[in-house]
Amino acid sequence: MRRPFLYPWARRQQAAALHGGPPDFLEYDRGSPTNRLRPPFFHGRGAGWAASLRGVPLILAIESSCDETAVALVRGEAGCAATVLASVVASQIELHRQFGGVVPELASRNHSLHLHALVEQALQQAAVRVGDIDAFAATTGPGLASSLLIGSTAAKALACATRRPFLGINHLEGHLLSPFVGDTQVVAHVALIVSGGHTLLLDVAGAGRYHKLGGTRDDAAGEAFDKVGKMLGMPYPGGPEIEIRARDGNPAAYAFPRSMLHDAHLDFSFSGLKTAVLYTLQREAGKVSVADVAASFQQAVSEILVAKTLAAAQRCGRRTVALSGGVSLNQALREAFAQACGRAGLELVLAAPSLCTDNAAMIGFAALLRHLAGESSPLDGDIHPHLPLL
Ligand code: KG4
Ligand code: ZN
Repeated sequence: MRRPFLYPWARRQQAAALHGGPPDFLEYDRGSPTNRLRPPFFHGRGAGWAASLRGVPLILAIESSCDETAVALVRGEAGCAATVLASVVASQIELHRQFGGVVPELASRNHSLHLHALVEQALQQAAVRVGDIDAFAATTGPGLASSLLIGSTAAKALACATRRPFLGINHLEGHLLSPFVGDTQVVAHVALIVSGGHTLLLDVAGAGRYHKLGGTRDDAAGEAFDKVGKMLGMPYPGGPEIEIRARDGNPAAYAFPRSMLHDAHLDFSFSGLKTAVLYTLQREAGKVSVADVAASFQQAVSEILVAKTLAAAQRCGRRTVALSGGVSLNQALREAFAQACGRAGLELVLAAPSLCTDNAAMIGFAALLRHLAGESSPLDGDIHPHLPLL
């Protein structure tokens, strides 16, 4: 029999389980510019505990909208805590890096290559069997069509084979709810989603009750980080690289523009900022400090995001602000939000670092809330590369 493929942390955990020791969990290295194979965000407590919770809905979720293949198992009841039993992510960043961005054909091929092993690994970590699962979920949009198809087809096949419901989940709802994973009660708040493809400001009355307040008129915040990273000669994705270089730079070295900062609307624009960085690099060719440019760019993005989000909270009368998406991993941004919310007397809810970039735990949590509300999706429903949140 072929030995099943296991990622390094899974091998360590399997070995620990065999020898009776506690599982060896790696900390997600936030400082790593690569965010390569990420260890799981795991709250498993062994087979006995899993068995004692039979009857509490259990969801298996798959995320494959872009360049991360992810599987998670999430369990919870209405009005109670939700638990992530397993969450595994295989990132393809190294693969796409040589091309300076995501190559859709390569992404989908690698999703299909790794998905089966990741499902096995997640089931093993959570100490549950396919037959224990109450519903199967997958991201059905927005994202790359060929990538979305891999995860959603797999989840539908599992749902079909086990005669359980299928839930198609909006990737943005996954990010939006990620700061609240763990509690099936989502408090009213203003949410900022900042990822590679989206910058979205929403008023959230509760799970499933969203009102758009603003969005980007050009580049997403993460896209701006990635493009400026490229200008600075950094590998893809530029976001984590800029954060690292900015630590040694002066955030006041360059007065980059804060577009639309004082406009009454709650939209964003990052193309002017990006162009200002380009002109600076052209003007100071050869003598520019990469650290200063990185720090000044990061400072400008942070100021814009903080100011618009706090204005939104004030306008909507919300006392809680939640931050999610890959860019929310940025420590300088997290600190800027913490300080501003502290000054304004607002509660800040941040997604856990392992839930900021793409993962299936957030998809499983969104699916759990919909499952608890009695929802399901048709098996003949399609994927939607441009699926809006509302
Ligand atoms: O949420 P995500 O994994 O994927 C999308 O749904 O788009 O976000 C990826 C984005 C990339 O643009 C990446 O550069 C950015 O998140 N990112 C960061 C950091 N880590 C990831 N941006 C700034 N600072 C970081 N530390
Ligand atoms: Zn995402």
